[in-house]
Amino acid sequence: MKRKLQPIAFQFFIICGLTLAASAQNSTLAPTPPMGWNSWNHFAEKIDARIVRAQADAMVTSGMKDAGYVYINIDDTWEDKRDEKGFIHANEKFPDMKTLADYVHSKGLKLGIYSSPAAKTCAGFEGSLGHEEQDAQTYASWGIDYLKYDWCQSPGTRDEMKAAYTKMHEALRKRGRPIVLSLCEYGWNNVWEWGDSVGGNLWRTTDDISDDYDTMAKIGFGQAGHEKYAGPGHWNDPDMLEVGNGGMSEDEYRTHLGLWAILAAPLIAGNDLTRMTPFTVDMLTNREVLAIDQDPLGKQGHPIIQEGPFEVWIKPMADHSFAVGLFNRSKQEDKMNVKFSDLSISGAANVRDVWLRKDLGVLHETFSAYVPKHGVVLLRISPR
Ligand code: GLA
Repeated sequence: MKRKLQPIAFQFFIICGLTLAASAQNSTLAPTPPMGWNSWNHFAEKIDARIVRAQADAMVTSGMKDAGYVYINIDDTWEDKRDEKGFIHANEKFPDMKTLADYVHSKGLKLGIYSSPAAKTCAGFEGSLGHEEQDAQTYASWGIDYLKYDWCQSPGTRDEMKAAYTKMHEALRKRGRPIVLSLCEYGWNNVWEWGDSVGGNLWRTTDDISDDYDTMAKIGFGQAGHEKYAGPGHWNDPDMLEVGNGGMSEDEYRTHLGLWAILAAPLIAGNDLTRMTPFTVDMLTNREVLAIDQDPLGKQGHPIIQEGPFEVWIKPMADHSFAVGLFNRSKQEDKMNVKFSDLSISGAANVRDVWLRKDLGVLHETFSAYVPKHGVVLLRISPR
């Protein structure tokens, strides 16, 4: 009896120990949701080193770096073949990855890269299967700070997925370089339940976003219920931003960024940072919206009202205020309201309109406003 129990107990402690170690390391790597830029949404396979440098330059000159964006992430299509020893090389679009990383670091930014636990990436390039240790070694030697690891094969079982992600997490950990691990497997096998335990700092919860209201709204409003799995070091990722790519109206982009902030979602811009309108720069650098996303409490928001196309979402903040979004998903403007008692606030509260950057004063018991079609009124409500 005793002899049988010991190994099981021992294994239990090892598993608990590894899980706790993964969580502890995760918290220091991504205490708040990662902020940066990724090449895929705008450039896809057209990305190259010259464009990456220009995006890093623009992240600084636009004020995005000062607003908190730090990662410059190269997505799929940088990969060439492996050499005879099995080491991956970048293709002709990226003649010197180490020099590129040095350049990005010289700007006070960090460089991210992309691979897959499969033999091939989603775009058909070389994946990491069977070369995880070598790839982790290569990334560390280049000075990589962030890895998006994209499943890109038919769904595996939960155990297969956990094993594949743990393998890369362990390989990265052994290199001794802090590298954010971004899991991408589209939410299969309820990844939010186990992403943290395999060393993930963030995990995609859905299929790919695209630059239209319907897709964005389906993904964003579909996040309800995942909130208990997010927190410092480990975040649900409803995919990268489309702000500035041109497919949505200003109100629709306000909904997109406002909702992602309430969700404590990673804010990875997906537009061309070298060609931004004043509206796009102003939106992406809006300190009050970013502060909602980056709040140190690290709570993901959730809906308190879902009535047809009208949704009210709240996010508890570290200073005991609430970020509140009144979202109108219908095709015409409509009046919406929120009762302070729904936020456990009795009586009066200070209300600030975040997008308007305007204090609305002390209000009693309720707030109401007209919300544009596909738009949002984003508030900070503080108990008095
Ligand atoms: C998948 C991912 C995208 C992008 C592409 C690259 O579709 O979900 O975000 O990385 O692969 O091929």
